[in-house]
Amino acid sequence: MPLPLFPLLTPIIIAIICIYAAAIWKNTRKANKSKTEEKVISKPWVDDDLKDGTEFNIQQQASKQLDEEITAQHIPYSPKHYSEEEMMRRAKKFYELMNKRRSVRFFSDEPVPREVIDYVIRTAGTSPSGAHTEPWTFVVVQEPEMKRQVREIIEEEEEINYKKRMGQTWVQDIQKMRTNWTKEYLEIAPYLILIFKQVYGNLPSGKKIHYYNEISVSISCGILLAALQNVGLVTVTTTPLNCGPRLRALLERPVNEKLLLLLPVGLPAKNVTVPDFHRKPLTDIMVLV
Ligand SMILES: Cc1cc2nc3c(=O)[nH]c(=O)nc-3n(C[C@H](O)[C@H](O)[C@H](O)COP(=O)(O)O)c2cc1C
Repeated sequence: MPLPLFPLLTPIIIAIICIYAAAIWKNTRKANKSKTEEKVISKPWVDDDLKDGTEFNIQQQASKQLDEEITAQHIPYSPKHYSEEEMMRRAKKFYELMNKRRSVRFFSDEPVPREVIDYVIRTAGTSPSGAHTEPWTFVVVQEPEMKRQVREIIEEEEEINYKKRMGQTWVQDIQKMRTNWTKEYLEIAPYLILIFKQVYGNLPSGKKIHYYNEISVSISCGILLAALQNVGLVTVTTTPLNCGPRLRALLERPVNEKLLLLLPVGLPAKNVTVPDFHRKPLTDIMVLV
């Protein structure tokens, strides 16, 4: 006598339903988990305006740029060769100079020759850059009315950053700097240097890819800081969060330029103080393999 089919299938159907239910439950958990992770890793200090909005035919441009690189003529290059003692002397001397660099938030209004600033920026422009694209623009503001307008924008946005956008931890972390959203130095320092990264270049033939533009501009800023230190000028590296679009409009910069850093530049105020910070020793920052 044949076995009744329905009772035989029932456990199989139940098993299939259970497997489906388990799979749905697992997926829902996974989705909820990634939502929570997204919340946990929210980074209010990351400026939306700095995101790379490069939208053009990357393939086409890349081969054009490579062609340019390949066709560049090569010329002799002979950098200075120092003796070991001289190398050591220079290494120490430069370290000692740079180790004296500190971020200064109080400035004197004493004038500084413009030609000095020109050379400092020329020096920043010697930086290496991805595929030699030189994706930087240094806007030097010296006009008092323009400095006032820059200050107004920054203070308005910074007040919101402090009170709403950034968390309590951030506010606590920067307390040791004794700084807040009021930034008198933006009008007192003789110069403000606003550094823009060009996320792409504009050529008569179209847009040009700026590879690694943020890394390239950051390296040039490091060189700029060293050049300022070399001439005895002071600054504080600042990242005016959420001010990019308004400052870009104020300074009439094109949309491919995104504000990366702002450096007030000048001489320090009399009797200026800085936080008593200590730098990590070599053993903590260098790994020899
Ligand atoms: C990427 C970056 C962003 C910074 N942003 C600010 C800022 O917005 N405001 C500020 O007062 N200092 C800012 N600083 C300066 C740091 O607080 C300072 O470099 C740090 O406290 C170490 O002190 P020192 O520069 O005197 O060695 C910034 C520094 C860096 C590198």
